[in-house]
Amino acid sequence: MRLPYYKNRRGQIYHGDCLDIMKEMADDSAEALVTDPPYCSGGRQQQGARNQIEKSVRDEWFMGDNMGVDSYVWWMREIAQEAIRIVTPGSMAFVFTDWRQYTTLVNTWESARWTLRGAFVWDKAKGGAMGSYWRNNHEWAAIFTKGKPRPLAHRSCFNTWQGPKPQGGLHPTQKPLELMEYILGAVTPKPARILDPFIGSGTTLLAACSTGHNFIGIEIDEAYVKKSIRRVESYKSGLTEAEQEEGQQTLFEE
Ligand SMILES: C[S@@+](CC[C@H](N)C(=O)[O-])C[C@H]1O[C@@H](n2cnc3c(N)ncnc32)[C@H](O)[C@@H]1O
Repeated sequence: MRLPYYKNRRGQIYHGDCLDIMKEMADDSAEALVTDPPYCSGGRQQQGARNQIEKSVRDEWFMGDNMGVDSYVWWMREIAQEAIRIVTPGSMAFVFTDWRQYTTLVNTWESARWTLRGAFVWDKAKGGAMGSYWRNNHEWAAIFTKGKPRPLAHRSCFNTWQGPKPQGGLHPTQKPLELMEYILGAVTPKPARILDPFIGSGTTLLAACSTGHNFIGIEIDEAYVKKSIRRVESYKSGLTEAEQEEGQQTLFEE
């Protein structure tokens, strides 16, 4: 297994392609997977089409977001297969997507032997509305388990959550910290090792700290790896003095 880019007492962050890194991970090395992969749902192209062609093909909104459906299916299935090997029996996988890709995501994960347990909706209320016809103001997640689920932490785990998009501007698709805390607050055992193969600005990792869990994060874009490290290091109240100190000793490779 390669060296992490960063580690502290709560967890590790790896820089690279998550599929390569997940292939190196041992069996049973996490108790939950909570992640927000690229949706590959055409958002960037639609946005570009309203402007000019050059803009729409120039770059991706963020890495991996411009795949067609066939590539997305192959890719998600590979990730789902590695994920089910990596987590312990009874573990949950909580994977964000949108209305367009929900069934495709479910098919790929079910075909890798994950059991679908339900859909989750993040209702952004009026503040998050996009588009001009039926204005889209929600996102989905699919909830799976590896076999029979472990009990959740409490009985108030409902599959909708309402709250606006964060204003922080750390990532184009940054999730609200409170949303991720709501999800991770349900995870057992405590602490669990939470695997997020697509950390972006590190919201899942921060929520893992504040809900008493540990984390394993992966991100392909080094700029976001660095943002995530800064966020984890700035998090104080969930860490002991010793953990904060150790968090400063980063393992930057450059
Ligand atoms: C939807 S964003 C995650 C945003 C995150 N939830 C947040 O709150 O900031 C997905 C992230 O996955 C990263 N990514 C795309 N392909 C990847 C790959 N093959 N391996 C690891 N990370 C990847 C992108 O760079 C992007 O930052």
